[in-house]
Amino acid sequence: MEATRKYDRIGAGYLLRRRPDPRIAAMIWDALGDAESTVNVGAGTGSYEPLGRSVVAVEPAIAMIRQRSPFAAPTVRATAEALPFPDASFGAAMAVLTIHHWSDWRAGLRELVRVSRRRVVLFTWDPRSESSWLSDYFPSVIDADRLRFPSLAALQEILGETEVTPIRIPHDCTDGFMGAYWRRPSAYLDPGVRSAISSLADGESSVALAKLADDLNTGAWERRHGQVLKHKEIDLGYRLVVAACSRTSRCT
Ligand SMILES: C[S@@+](CC[C@H](N)C(=O)[O-])C[C@H]1O[C@@H](n2cnc3c(N)ncnc32)[C@H](O)[C@@H]1O
Repeated sequence: MEATRKYDRIGAGYLLRRRPDPRIAAMIWDALGDAESTVNVGAGTGSYEPLGRSVVAVEPAIAMIRQRSPFAAPTVRATAEALPFPDASFGAAMAVLTIHHWSDWRAGLRELVRVSRRRVVLFTWDPRSESSWLSDYFPSVIDADRLRFPSLAALQEILGETEVTPIRIPHDCTDGFMGAYWRRPSAYLDPGVRSAISSLADGESSVALAKLADDLNTGAWERRHGQVLKHKEIDLGYRLVVAACSRTSRCT
């Protein structure tokens, strides 16, 4: 329950800083296919929940549940590791940027497979992906993320065959997760931005932030990393992982 407590502590400003990005939403909704009902596990404030379909949200942190719109999908307070639903209750199960927070992600993933009839859709980060400029300034944070996020191979051990699609992050991404500000480096100096990124919320070292501020002021950042400014979107290792399940041929 450590992650739940964390989100009860840091989650208050989430709604403002973590607005679903419409381009990423389109990819997730497409991946959900024609599933008539969806469970969104680790649902937070409701980002990326498909519109016009039956959705049930699962979220353990009260601070996140409180920020959900009154019009959002009904929410069950529970954890991924013990979903309170019978087998095959939903057409699809989705989990967006949450699996690395689960105390036992394997148990949680098995639960997603158990409750879904047709498919499991994950938006996650590949811990084997190449380093970006963020590693120069936040090396310990990125190293910790490499340990927290399950590898794609480990996910496949539970999901079986999966389709993995890179989600290239637009330069003006509206969902302020760790990599979202890759072309807006000064954003990481804003404590409000950092407070909505779990990896940075507990206080990044002032030395790292001072180095970033200094490099931005002196032009050192641009000399070293300015080539990224030419791009509209880049691959930072975010991945859409889709496993098709059926009751006769389960993902497991
Ligand atoms: C980075 S937020 C993502 C929220 C939402 N999916 C989104 O895309 O905005 C991670 C969420 O996972 C939730 N979480 C933490 N541990 C969990 C667990 N064991 N089972 C389900 N959700 C969990 C947190 O409370 C938080 O709401």
